[in-house]
Amino acid sequence: MSMIERVYAKARADVKRIVLPEGDEERTLLAAARLKAEGLAEPILLGNEAAVRAEAARVGADLTGLTVLDPETSEKTESYAEALYELRKAKGLSREAAGSLARDVMYYGILMVKLGDADGLVSGAVHTTGDMLRPALQIIKMKPGIHIVSSSFLMNCPNHALGDEGLLVYADCIVNPCPTAEELAEIAVTSAYTARDLCGVETPRVALLSFSTKGSASHELVTKVQKAVELAHALAPELLLDGELQPDAALVPEVGARKAPGSAVAGKANVLIFPDLQSGNIAYKLTQRIGGAEAYAVLQGLAKPCNDLSRGCSVQDIVNTAALTAVQAQA
Ligand SMILES: CC(C)(COP(=O)(O)OP(=O)(O)OC[C@H]1O[C@@H](n2cnc3c(N)ncnc32)[C@H](O)[C@@H]1OP(=O)(O)O)[C@@H](O)C(=O)NCCC(=O)NCCS
Repeated sequence: MSMIERVYAKARADVKRIVLPEGDEERTLLAAARLKAEGLAEPILLGNEAAVRAEAARVGADLTGLTVLDPETSEKTESYAEALYELRKAKGLSREAAGSLARDVMYYGILMVKLGDADGLVSGAVHTTGDMLRPALQIIKMKPGIHIVSSSFLMNCPNHALGDEGLLVYADCIVNPCPTAEELAEIAVTSAYTARDLCGVETPRVALLSFSTKGSASHELVTKVQKAVELAHALAPELLLDGELQPDAALVPEVGARKAPGSAVAGKANVLIFPDLQSGNIAYKLTQRIGGAEAYAVLQGLAKPCNDLSRGCSVQDIVNTAALTAVQAQA
């Protein structure tokens, strides 16, 4: 069974309510109808109800049994506005501004998750990453003990000799442009737990990547990764984690044995931690486009799950992301 098939099976076993703020968007509507029909989630669509239903009819999405809510007219909008005001007044948000933000589909959806009226949120077919991430960070905030929200890309590679039978977890490819050593260490540990808890990887082997392997080059960027390795060991001494490693030393057994002899990770890494957002984002797109891998993105570290789509996403991408979000919500 592939990683995503395992995710589907888990999602069906304990169905969660997933709010889709872009309720009048074609791919979102088709995905919502599939999520409901296939028992993967209980989708909640946001938007002007007449517009949502008209677009659903136009694209042939069956909304039978689905909830559609309009933040402009919902009976909960006032209480959500009040909750938002209480959460953000210390940051200078006025009651009036909270009232108008609560009428925005993104804020309304995030407040639903915060206040327990939905279990998770998926958006991004229309909105940018920042449009969702900023309110999610401000309102939902982090799990206890977590200091930084980041992302993992679950890369399902056609070459099953790599990673965990072809599955590699890449982080961080979405959120943090330039993490410090402390932040990189936390991203490494959180990503190992995503590999284990969400993807079913029994033994995460985490490689902190660089252009240097075990001191082969010296530069302040290499020193930062070396420091992150030390800090990550201290955060989670039980994890198999090593660095700094180049990708070939991390992934290819013969190269790993030559460049990092004795390492428990080199040559068999299944979680790859990139030193910054440029390298992570570029690497996942190259793996997808040149390497033919399927890529699934999740945010990690938020107190409740919210996930982002690419604006070029397909209906299948939305279904997959909603199923992953539902499984995150079960935890
Ligand atoms: C995450 C992001 C939205 C933060 O935006 P920003 O303009 O820097 O926002 P701010 O600095 O005002 O932060 C907003 C809040 O989020 C918090 N925050 C920012 N980054 C955070 C992180 N990684 N983890 C946890 N909290 C974070 C801030 O502390 C702040 O909280 P507060 O308002 O309660 O004090 C921004 O870094 C971003 O857009 N990243 C994505 C980059 C991108 O475009 N990636 C696309 C790749 S596909």
